[in-house]
Amino acid sequence: MAEEAILGYLETNDQISDSGHFAAQLGLDHNDVVNVIKSLHGFRYVDAEISPLGIHEMTINSLRRSGVMQDIKKEAWVLTDEGKTYAATGSPEVQLFLAIPPEGIPKDELQKKLAPSVYKIGCAQAAKNKWVNMGTLITRKVQHVDDKVKDSLLRITDGQVVDQDDIKSLKARKLIAPQTWKGYLVKKGPNYAPKRKKVATDLTRENLQRGDWKELEFKEYNFTAKGLPIEGGHLHPLLKVRQQLKDIFRQMGFEEMPTNNFVESSFWNFDALFQPQQHPARDSHDTFFLQAPSTTKELPEDYVERVKRVHESGGYDSRGYGYDWKRDEANKNLLRTHTTAVSSRMLYLLAQKPFVPKKYFSIDRVFRNEAVDRTHLAEFHQIEGLVCDRGLTLGDLIGVLHDFFSRLGMSKLRFKPAYNPYTEPSMEIFSYHEGFQKWVEVGNSGMFRPEMLLPMGLPEDARVIAWGLSLERPTMILYGIDNIRDLFGPKVDLGLIKKNPICRLGI
Ligand code: PHE
Repeated sequence: MAEEAILGYLETNDQISDSGHFAAQLGLDHNDVVNVIKSLHGFRYVDAEISPLGIHEMTINSLRRSGVMQDIKKEAWVLTDEGKTYAATGSPEVQLFLAIPPEGIPKDELQKKLAPSVYKIGCAQAAKNKWVNMGTLITRKVQHVDDKVKDSLLRITDGQVVDQDDIKSLKARKLIAPQTWKGYLVKKGPNYAPKRKKVATDLTRENLQRGDWKELEFKEYNFTAKGLPIEGGHLHPLLKVRQQLKDIFRQMGFEEMPTNNFVESSFWNFDALFQPQQHPARDSHDTFFLQAPSTTKELPEDYVERVKRVHESGGYDSRGYGYDWKRDEANKNLLRTHTTAVSSRMLYLLAQKPFVPKKYFSIDRVFRNEAVDRTHLAEFHQIEGLVCDRGLTLGDLIGVLHDFFSRLGMSKLRFKPAYNPYTEPSMEIFSYHEGFQKWVEVGNSGMFRPEMLLPMGLPEDARVIAWGLSLERPTMILYGIDNIRDLFGPKVDLGLIKKNPICRLGI
């Protein structure tokens, strides 16, 4: 219908100066007309460009002014996003009214019950309608209210007639906006014909048998058409950030530690790190212990003896903790609560040979018996780095941290004194986040205590600077994810993994 009209009109006329007027004159839907123009344009039956008459508001007034469409009664209004929400959930004033119990409600409590914008707009409109008494206690003034706003919005969606005053007020509240359309200027194109020829998209066996392929006109290939989306694997953001971190560590000359054991003994996870056996982190509230096998088979006995002594009575200029150290407690198997368990094993191994300085890192999974919320899971990944050399100082630690974090795009750092049983001094690491405009905690660090290093057999002047952070935190910041459950675990959003860019430009 629209196609015939356009091609037919161009047969005897130079041009259609505005598709909107054209559609209105013929009583056609402008969207249909535009679709046909685009298709005819694609096959070069017509040439089309945006009409110099520009963008029109599809209201009665503008159409009257332009001298067309006198007999079209319907105004074209569309709902704004806000309008759509209220059409679905009800107007804020009615939501507010319904949230007030018959006996009234204190202002701050009512505020807690509603979204901030619903509360704010709801109060203003409900007061204007004289539905409520405002004050510290908010009460109802009337028994019942009708949601006229919602009704009108729904009528507009359905294309029904709405009272002019209501239109005015909905427009003033920005719940509706006039529908606009772009008009096209249309002329004959190089392939113009009064009727569209059917073009073949495929050469069939029948075409060949009948011989009609000779007369057929074939549709041209569209070499710029997008192909089907490729079905393939997608790297999870955690894997991508892990790779980036591995590269950073390797560029800085760090070797990766073997982290392929999730099950660890309490000894390596806690005792070797001078973490006393009564420490709250060793409680089953914070740590997952194993039922089977519940204990470790083997520990290096002479080293265990030195660890026991340092906990009980100290040595190496330390007084120790002064308690009765229990082997049974050290034997208990657990899911490692930090990758520092691996660092303690590696430093012990290092101490068994003639001393060489080392730089080690690891990135792997750890487990904590924690309540799960939008920023915590019971399992997550830890990034850990350490440098072992003679005579290292806190200055070295700060320098290495600046180097490491600036490679991640975090060059503004601050440090705050902290406490870890196995490091002294210890520092929390904060980085200034330009987007959030605030300092965010990005890691924990320190110098391993002599009570940890000397029983292992490391030289007196060997020092270890070390730091740890979660892989999830920087990944969430880099990918703008605010709920950890979208990133990891059973509720992970697979769409998010597919949609993520292959690479992030900048950091
Ligand atoms: N193990 C610490 C944690 O779990 C991180 C850390 C590593 C702190 C090394 C100091 C040194 O938070």
